[in-house]
Amino acid sequence: MSTQASRREFLANSTAAVTAGALVTGLGANRAVHAAGSDTLKVGLIGCGGRGSGAAVNAMRADDNLQITALADAFPDRLEHCKNIVSKQVGKKYQVTDENCFVGFDAYKDLIATDVDVVLLCTPPHFRPMQLRAAIEAGKHVFCEKPVAVDATGVRSVLETARLAKEKNLTIVSGLCWRYDLGVRATMDQIKSGAIGDIAAIQENYLTGTLWHRGRKDDWSEMEYQMRNWLYFTWLSGDHIVEQHIHSLDKALWLMDDQPPASCVGLGGRQVRTDEPWGHIYDHFAICYEWANGVKTFAYTRQMAGCHNDVDDYVLGSKGRAKILKHRIEGENEWRYPKDAPKPSMYDQEHKELFAGIRSGDIINNGEYMCYSTLLAIMGREACYTGKSITWEQAMNSQQDLSPESYQWSDVAEPKVAMPGKTKFV
Ligand SMILES: NC(=O)c1ccc[n+]([C@@H]2O[C@H](COP(=O)([O-])OP(=O)(O)OC[C@H]3O[C@@H](n4cnc5c(N)ncnc54)[C@H](O)[C@@H]3O)[C@@H](O)[C@H]2O)c1
Repeated sequence: MSTQASRREFLANSTAAVTAGALVTGLGANRAVHAAGSDTLKVGLIGCGGRGSGAAVNAMRADDNLQITALADAFPDRLEHCKNIVSKQVGKKYQVTDENCFVGFDAYKDLIATDVDVVLLCTPPHFRPMQLRAAIEAGKHVFCEKPVAVDATGVRSVLETARLAKEKNLTIVSGLCWRYDLGVRATMDQIKSGAIGDIAAIQENYLTGTLWHRGRKDDWSEMEYQMRNWLYFTWLSGDHIVEQHIHSLDKALWLMDDQPPASCVGLGGRQVRTDEPWGHIYDHFAICYEWANGVKTFAYTRQMAGCHNDVDDYVLGSKGRAKILKHRIEGENEWRYPKDAPKPSMYDQEHKELFAGIRSGDIINNGEYMCYSTLLAIMGREACYTGKSITWEQAMNSQQDLSPESYQWSDVAEPKVAMPGKTKFV
């Protein structure tokens, strides 16, 4: 497995690359344009884990003329596992040869260099900015899992790449999947057409149990251990507020017409998951975000076993209330998403719309909101880690860069648990 230039060098060079990339229409982009209409579109998957395998299957269901032709992962065993799952589920659409299977840190570059038209980015969030940049520069359409970065340096890079995608007429469909849930969309439409009056406050709950842990093996380097257990390291996942609660924060942003808040303050910590397997992330966060018009969002997330679980979005308005995931309006204008209305899987729906957009030329670019939602979560995390009130401008201009010095199968620093009042905002 090879090493590559450090992410710092990548990010430092990124502005120049965007400017140059904007002037050049790559061969890939030409192919992407010609592959519209009813031609067969070839798809490559980067990040062959749970979500990546699922996304590959969702993509293949989008229309009849699709093939999955390339796979890339940091680890060969993950790639093999994915091959078995996807090949069984998509039948003849599985057309991946051994030559088109790539492993290691540079696997994404090798996959992007093949003749795929569409790339599915499903690695841990840390790698998203560099992999998205490479895909768009090479002229590929992209499905981009959430979150899109773990720090503000990464968010700014993805914002630039999203602008480049627009210039090159390339797709970026975000894996913030609730935006593709028809019941959620209908509920949002009700709210935006005044069913609950003016929004006064929003409560976002993502209260769940714990997620997987993949153990440790003696022959793994610390880098391999952390990458295999990426959820528990902020440089890889962003912490669970960024990795998971982003789904809720994205709905708050959507409710606020994708306008960012003015500031936030929060508290959080690590009360139950205090031992070594859980890395250095927190197990609970509670944040109050405030918008310039006075609307507040109270956002709660917890990953603890044996506690009350609740995942939903509660919107309080001058004429009523909404429960978004229950697709329900209460108050003056009672409403429910009709029982006989369509309820396709949102995971299938995002790919249906992605490929329909390529075929019709009505290209989708979710770049800006996926960056804002990611930054909303990072801002909340930093408010809790530091104990400070943080403004959107501070968050957007933060110089934080959580990258390791280099990508190698060797030691990597294990960060300390953040201590409010002591940990500094960078
Ligand atoms: N939208 C959703 O509902 C949803 C659900 C689950 C996960 N996700 C997101 O999908 C992404 C993947 O999550 P997952 O649950 O599939 O995790 P996972 O660990 O099962 O899969 C990630 C895969 O990426 C590989 N990988 C790691 N670094 C890589 C690199 N630099 N290059 C190539 N491959 C690399 C890993 O080996 C692994 O196979 C995350 O961003 C997560 O937040 C989204």
